[in-house]
Amino acid sequence: MSAAYKESIDPESQALLSQDNNEYAAREEPPSSGRRRTYRLRHLWLAYAAGILSAVFVELFLCSHYSIPIWPSESSTDAAAYADFASPDAGSTEVHNFPPASPTNAVPSLFPTDVGHAGPTPTGAEPALVATAPSYPLHTGAPHLLGPVALERNSSSKSDPQFDIFKHWGNLSPWFSVERGSFGVDSGPEAPESCRVTGLHLLHRHGARYPTQWASYGGPANFSARLHEAADGWNASGQLEFMNNWTYKLGEEILTPFGRQQLYDLGVSMRMKYGFLLKNFTESNTLPVFRTESQDRMLASALNFALGFFGYPFEGQYQQSITIEDDGYNNTLAPYKTCPNARDRTKSDRAIPYVKQWADIYLKDALARLRPQLHGYELTIEDVYTLQQMCAYETVAIGYSRFCELFTEEEWKGFNYAMDIYFWYDSAFGSPVARVQGIGYVQELLARLTHTPIPVHNSSTNATLDDNPVTFPLGQSLYVDATHEVVVLHVITALNLTNFAVDGPLPADHIPEHRAFKSSHLAPFATNMQFQLLSCESHPDPQIRIIINDGVVPLTGIRGCPEDKDGKCPVPAFVAAQREIVSKTDWNWACHGDWQVPPGPAWNTTTGDAPEPGTV
Ligand SMILES: *[C@@H]1O[C@H](CO)[C@@H](O)[C@H](O)[C@H]1NC(C)=O
Ligand SMILES: *[C@@H]1O[C@H](CO)[C@@H](O)[C@H](O)[C@H]1NC(C)=O
Ligand SMILES: *[C@@H]1O[C@H](CO)[C@@H](O)[C@H](O)[C@H]1NC(C)=O
Ligand SMILES: *[C@@H]1O[C@H](CO)[C@@H](O)[C@H](O)[C@H]1NC(C)=O
Ligand SMILES: *[C@@H]1O[C@H](CO)[C@@H](O)[C@H](O)[C@H]1NC(C)=O
Ligand SMILES: *[C@@H]1O[C@H](CO)[C@@H](O)[C@H](O)[C@H]1NC(C)=O
Ligand SMILES: *[C@@H]1O[C@H](CO)[C@@H](O)[C@H](O)[C@H]1NC(C)=O
Ligand SMILES: *[C@@H]1O[C@H](CO)[C@@H](O)[C@H](O)[C@H]1NC(C)=O
Ligand SMILES: *[C@@H]1O[C@H](CO)[C@@H](O)[C@H](O)[C@H]1NC(C)=O
Ligand SMILES: *[C@@H]1O[C@H](CO)[C@@H](O)[C@H](O)[C@H]1NC(C)=O
Repeated sequence: MSAAYKESIDPESQALLSQDNNEYAAREEPPSSGRRRTYRLRHLWLAYAAGILSAVFVELFLCSHYSIPIWPSESSTDAAAYADFASPDAGSTEVHNFPPASPTNAVPSLFPTDVGHAGPTPTGAEPALVATAPSYPLHTGAPHLLGPVALERNSSSKSDPQFDIFKHWGNLSPWFSVERGSFGVDSGPEAPESCRVTGLHLLHRHGARYPTQWASYGGPANFSARLHEAADGWNASGQLEFMNNWTYKLGEEILTPFGRQQLYDLGVSMRMKYGFLLKNFTESNTLPVFRTESQDRMLASALNFALGFFGYPFEGQYQQSITIEDDGYNNTLAPYKTCPNARDRTKSDRAIPYVKQWADIYLKDALARLRPQLHGYELTIEDVYTLQQMCAYETVAIGYSRFCELFTEEEWKGFNYAMDIYFWYDSAFGSPVARVQGIGYVQELLARLTHTPIPVHNSSTNATLDDNPVTFPLGQSLYVDATHEVVVLHVITALNLTNFAVDGPLPADHIPEHRAFKSSHLAPFATNMQFQLLSCESHPDPQIRIIINDGVVPLTGIRGCPEDKDGKCPVPAFVAAQREIVSKTDWNWACHGDWQVPPGPAWNTTTGDAPEPGTV
């Protein structure tokens, strides 16, 4: 079962796959078939009764009682005080199908797309903010999203006026510029003094999406379905009262409107900073080639990026390579599709047991607080964790979520850390299949940096595409690739960006005071990683820097890269070290080898490497 079961699971299972293998077998039916509403006689009766009662209720209490309490007052947590009934639809899935399948007024011939008369269209010079401005404009806030009015108060700790809930959702955070120095280099993304930017390789994630199809720990759709089907009906009071007429409004997998904007904005931002690199294409009479994968949100992300970067219409300005993300296809941007050991959770799943251990700790108080406010459905730790996911997902999908205010700052920090634990052990330095899955992209990066085709296709690289100079050009000044957060983390691991791994295996019983590895910094929605190429007066060799979400990354874990105040490394040294890493990474063993690592602390990696042959 194990090799097969993950076939349809999204790589980005924020999702948190359970280590309990029996649960896998239960997952036969695609959850999309769960888009249903169930009405029962009892519900209809309740609705009728609720109608009458609430009319009376409104009459009596509207003026004095209407405001929704943000914090529970003594009385609102008292089970006797609630008066709302759960509506028959509460917890059900609500779907608005747009566009209509056959609209009656669709007459394309009356709405031509090119009517001429465009007026004058002279163009100007390309922007070059990274070179011309005294500093680099940062990406802050999340326009169009509304955070909670207030958070649950913790009487024994002072609230931090700087606390930003949007930065505490791990991989579900909207990307933001990390603070200067976050990764240990006190420098900005703007070209260092006496250096000129000569190239950019951008690797980015898709924007905000709905939850992935399936989850065995957490998973908002699963929770709402359980709630809706709760055997004897339920109702909510106090802080959860809003759930009495709450419906589940999230789809699956695809970009949300906000996610679309993130990629459009990223495209605009990159054009503003690096537009001048396009001059190179005009001189060589070629078009840029950007890559993405076939998945709906990946394609939509790439095209939104292109709209931002090139403007409408982008046709004729670049070529979009859409690689296939599906079982059995070699794809460096979706390497798990050909790496069986990564798909077989019994071999490599280290994350879930740790996440469960941590959730049991940090959500204990929240469970005790929330459980008495839901009657007829007994909340578990996993459910409460799901309510936190619900906050993040609802916010990035529909702009606002009542679930956010249910938790304290400490609990949001705990949620954020749960994500760090998950991604450390699942996709990064703590995973035995992280480096091997990142190595294909590293091989491609080497080919591009050295203008030399990939010598051997023995990883996730696709020879058909990568050996063709049209589909995989070498020697361009600008590359843009779209992928998943897990792959970004694989690449970070494969490259030996060891500053993120200095704290060793992440503990699951407390949040370490200082930790370098933060999923909200490395893998948020629309996370972006710039490989910046520089020509500097002070150095004869071309230089490379890595900038993740506007934070400069130290390259000192890479052999031959010197300490540098701006995080630079000479390209020849960088290339030599990465070649060594490629030669020491064994795809066959890591992806196909007959090994299995035990869950828990009996085995560790902090380099993302598979166990040595003969050790497990
Ligand atoms: C309240 O704050 C204290 C002290 O910081 C902390 O130990 C505790 O976990 C917090 N409780 C909640 C529910 O966040
Ligand atoms: C929820 O997930 C569990 C596995 O953890 C599965 O057994 C169950 O069928 C799912 N329920 C729904 C309603 O999707
Ligand atoms: C739910 O109830 C609140 C107040 O009781 C009301 O403002 C809101 O419109 C209702 N929402 C729905 C979807 O019925
Ligand atoms: C390589 O990519 C091409 C184009 O997407 C695809 O047709 C082919 O099957 C891929 N090859 C392998 C071995 O995955
Ligand atoms: C709320 O649910 C509980 C448990 O299912 C039930 O005993 C109670 O009557 C319900 N109250 C209302 C107002 O529906
Ligand atoms: C696909 O990957 C496998 C494993 O690395 C490799 O043997 C094969 O040559 C690759 N195929 C292509 C077309 O790249
Ligand atoms: C374009 O940029 C690449 C990479 O920086 C460089 O090798 C190449 O010489 C440039 N081509 C032209 C025509 O400027
Ligand atoms: C990569 O990092 C590991 C562990 O820190 C180190 O032992 C190794 O020498 C590094 N390799 C290169 C080529 O930088
Ligand atoms: C690919 O093959 C080369 C040459 O045999 C070997 O050194 C290297 O370890 C292999 N790389 C991967 C990623 O398997
Ligand atoms: C793995 O890491 C954990 C957490 O730091 C530690 O307790 C344990 O001893 C380590 N195990 C091994 C085999 O190094």
